[in-house]
Amino acid sequence: MASEPTRNLALELVRVTEAAALAAGRFMGRGDKIAADRAAVDAMRVVLNSIAMNAIIIIGEGEKDQAPMLYNGERVGTGEGPAMDIAVDPIDGTRPLSNGTSNAIATVALAPRGTMFDPGPFLYMNKIAVGPQARGTVDIEAPVEHNLRAIAQASDKKVEDLTVVILDRPRHTELIAEVRRCGARIRLIQDGDVAGALMTSWPDSGIDVLMGIGGTPEGVLAACALRAMGGEIQGKLYARNDDELRRGVEMGYDFKKTLTMNDLVASDDVFFAATGITDGEFLRGVKYYGSGARTDSVVVRGMTGTVRQIIATHRWDKLSRFSAIRYQGNT
Ligand code: FBP
Repeated sequence: MASEPTRNLALELVRVTEAAALAAGRFMGRGDKIAADRAAVDAMRVVLNSIAMNAIIIIGEGEKDQAPMLYNGERVGTGEGPAMDIAVDPIDGTRPLSNGTSNAIATVALAPRGTMFDPGPFLYMNKIAVGPQARGTVDIEAPVEHNLRAIAQASDKKVEDLTVVILDRPRHTELIAEVRRCGARIRLIQDGDVAGALMTSWPDSGIDVLMGIGGTPEGVLAACALRAMGGEIQGKLYARNDDELRRGVEMGYDFKKTLTMNDLVASDDVFFAATGITDGEFLRGVKYYGSGARTDSVVVRGMTGTVRQIIATHRWDKLSRFSAIRYQGNT
């Protein structure tokens, strides 16, 4: 049945990721991950709390980087409006940001209450993500060769034409060898597998698939975006040792289960926003000039599948009059 256009929360979320990026971008190359994260978290929290919604943080800042937290279970928003689950990653790529290298982004996703996968304290997940053409053809349980052949066939390419994004980590030595054996090309990334997953569904990125073990929060965020962009991600929780596995099983987590898109986010009514902090392949980083700054963002709505790219200019003279966030660094 036809209906009137409804509120697109992603258009409000983009102010959240812009604020985080504007605040965190000041720390590019300054070698201080903690300060960068604190700036991003503080800015994000201020803007999130201005949005008319009743959201609970399912995926917040984790223990991994001992980062200042937007706590799991914390309520954000004004408390009025739709009941939502929220996943935040104020900086996906704290290391590239503090080193001044590429692909750090600020990102947030929203889904109706009770629909987002809660990974608890389990930080790692094996993942496979593909774009719209190869959706429905891959299986995280299948051998690498099988998946590459399926993606190639679905995309009307040869396996040799495919580009696989993999995080550059020692744990991926075997995966990299296997992809090389199959003849596909590899794009190793130092960090930032939310952007890696999204690139599979980004026109002209040249990326066909993301494979390998990365963060669980990043997996859920990517699932929200890909659900809207028409791609697919599957995951499987990954225990780093027997103790983690035992703890997980005691808590009721199944490390053998394939987590489908629907397990990761069980609704089409999702919203996702990301803003570049440092220059990346699909988002440009924050550019500061004397009187303001420019940001580059993507905004996605699951219900309609609309993907918006938003380039915004921000003016310090106006913002400094009322904003609770200090955007201008030390000056
Ligand atoms: P953070 O910047 O949030 O720490 O994440 C960066 C990142 O590269 C993620 O994109 C990725 O999922 C994860 O770290 C991989 O973890 P690790 O660096 O421990 O291999």
